[in-house]
Amino acid sequence: VRFPERLAADAALCEARLLAALSAKSDQPVTDAMRYAVRGGKRLRGFLVLEGARMLGVAEDRSVSAAAAIEALHAYSLVHDDLPCMDDDDLRRGQPTVHKRWDEATAVLAGDALQTLAFDLLCDPMLGSAEVRIALVSGLAKASGIDGMVLGQALDIAAETAGRELTLEEITALQAGKTGALIGFAAEAGAVIARADPAPLRRYAAALGLAFQIADDILDVTGDEAKTGKRVGKDAGAGKATFVSLLGLDGARARAAELVREAEAALDPYGAGAINLRAAARFVVERQS
Ligand code: IPE
Ligand code: IPE
Ligand code: MG
Ligand code: MG
Ligand code: MG
Repeated sequence: VRFPERLAADAALCEARLLAALSAKSDQPVTDAMRYAVRGGKRLRGFLVLEGARMLGVAEDRSVSAAAAIEALHAYSLVHDDLPCMDDDDLRRGQPTVHKRWDEATAVLAGDALQTLAFDLLCDPMLGSAEVRIALVSGLAKASGIDGMVLGQALDIAAETAGRELTLEEITALQAGKTGALIGFAAEAGAVIARADPAPLRRYAAALGLAFQIADDILDVTGDEAKTGKRVGKDAGAGKATFVSLLGLDGARARAAELVREAEAALDPYGAGAINLRAAARFVVERQS
């Protein structure tokens, strides 16, 4: 199966697993907000888990809870990223953001509960032995927290008021945390579940994650709200430090293209089996949403 169909099929698997996990939960507005927040999106991180596992011989039903987990964690990060105290956005995945549709307290709590749901999903015995599940839990905790996504978000917010341009090195570190860490977890999870060496996937993810965030920054400048499903032109307005603010559009595009080549090369050890992961690297910079 080729990449676009694979991405769509894996997105459906993730969504079904997430909605199943939420189906037995209480009938609170927070639960509705959680269901709302996990709908839609490209599901790139879930795809990376499922495809990495598949490439290493692990069937979908054994890895899908990890794919759902990273998508729940990612959804939480978006709900909180959109809050008035962070990026103050009113549109996400083509719909009003959670705090607009409900209120801020509901958005904070839905994000909190999506985060804990992610770790609960990683305890699913289908994922493997207790050792494998502990490795997944620990890996996601590190990728999400103060050494990973939260650190990147904190640096991103701090840069708005830093009063100076960040250096390329600083922007790279910011983005490695903000987006790179969760993409890194997603790309390596299949190897953890398969008990295979994660090193090539780690190299792939380092290049892919950076290319992904550069593309996100480019889309904020050149993108179309109807396609991205979120407001555009906000980074410059907020004084965000991005690759575009530092390198310009052409420089950012060139750097992203270089990173795609790096990501593809990192997959050489897997030969033809990595065809869909290679396609994902190209998709990340060609996407319009
Ligand atoms: C957007 O992520 C936020 C960033 C981390 C840059 P995605 O572009 O993967 O968002 P969805 O999941 O497809 O909506
Ligand atoms: C968000 O980065 C990253 C996380 C949610 C961790 P952005 O703020 O650039 O994402 P968008 O552009 O709002 O999707
Ligand atoms: Mg942000
Ligand atoms: Mg944002
Ligand atoms: Mg952005």
